[in-house]
Amino acid sequence: WVDAIPSILADEIFSLAGECRLVESKNKVDLLIGAYRSDDGDPWPLPSVLEAERRLQHQGDAAKHEYLPIEGDPVYLRQAQKLLLGLDDQSKLFQRLVSVQTISGSGAIHIGAAFLSRLLKPGCVWVSDPTWAPHILMFERAGDVIILQVCAHNPTGLDLTQEQWKKVAEICARKGIFPFLDNAYQGFATGNPERDAWPLRYFANMANPIRFGVAQSFSKNFGLYGQRAGAFHLVLKEQDRAIQGNILQQLQFIIRTEYSAPPRTGSTIVKTILGDADLKAQWLTEVSAMSQRLGSVRSALHNGLRGSQLNSDFDHIIQQSGMFSYTGLSTKEVLRLRQEFHIYLSSSGRISMAGYYVTRAIREVQQD
Ligand code: LMR
Repeated sequence: WVDAIPSILADEIFSLAGECRLVESKNKVDLLIGAYRSDDGDPWPLPSVLEAERRLQHQGDAAKHEYLPIEGDPVYLRQAQKLLLGLDDQSKLFQRLVSVQTISGSGAIHIGAAFLSRLLKPGCVWVSDPTWAPHILMFERAGDVIILQVCAHNPTGLDLTQEQWKKVAEICARKGIFPFLDNAYQGFATGNPERDAWPLRYFANMANPIRFGVAQSFSKNFGLYGQRAGAFHLVLKEQDRAIQGNILQQLQFIIRTEYSAPPRTGSTIVKTILGDADLKAQWLTEVSAMSQRLGSVRSALHNGLRGSQLNSDFDHIIQQSGMFSYTGLSTKEVLRLRQEFHIYLSSSGRISMAGYYVTRAIREVQQD
């Protein structure tokens, strides 16, 4: 059987990032992965995260390497729910939630897909075209579900308007489609995590509530990429209260049979920040600063390209928001950027805006 193991397509972003690391040119530019970078092109550990780590070190918690419960840290999950839905301690909405901690946003999507395929057993899954490639792979087993990105759409940077969200919610309610909201970039679209959560809060507060799932990631907005802090939430209807225990058991079963219990370092950092008013305020300014810098790189790229009589006016670059720009460059142009200039971006033409901007090279490949 070993000889018959077929090869499969490698993940483009991660494999090209590996290739880019090996390139020796000083001028190479990595615009691949959606990870924030400073003006110098370096990773930027958030100062609020460093402060939380310092405080945690001083506490000398003897239990810090112990297992978390299968469903995760309850304090962290409560903070995650509050950030998502804007809840205060008295909110009744908590009673409609079942939440489990996950291996960041990808883990949340996977656990949600596994849960839906066991229980909803759907026939069809709708995704935007284009969407984040793993959505399609992860939902091979689930259906009658629509995956929607809450804000800062990956890869296009184009989000639904509030009016469009309302229509989508109405269609989901009318047709019995289960919305699965992927919330990986809360704070990156407008700079304000509260404002970016508008669609989630609209869905949760509809007069005729519908059930929906949310995959939440803290990778980007806390810069905790490798720590894998996330959560999967089910927002239920009032009448589902009796079944919530069963739902949690099902989720626990899936987690226990896949990886037993979630990692705790990232979630401990997140709960320390969100649970402390000063640290939370500091974190909010840091999210806003990251979003602003991405916006200024966006403008600089647009300024460098517009009016130069290329195939495109590139105005879409400034109409998009968040971490990515969907440039409209063809696969052939992307390949030339890589081969001739060592500029690495996805073959779809998606640029991670946190990288350097590359006006001159894009001009050159479009002028030919
Ligand atoms: C991206 O699309 O670059 C990020 O979401 C990272 C990933 O896991 O693909």
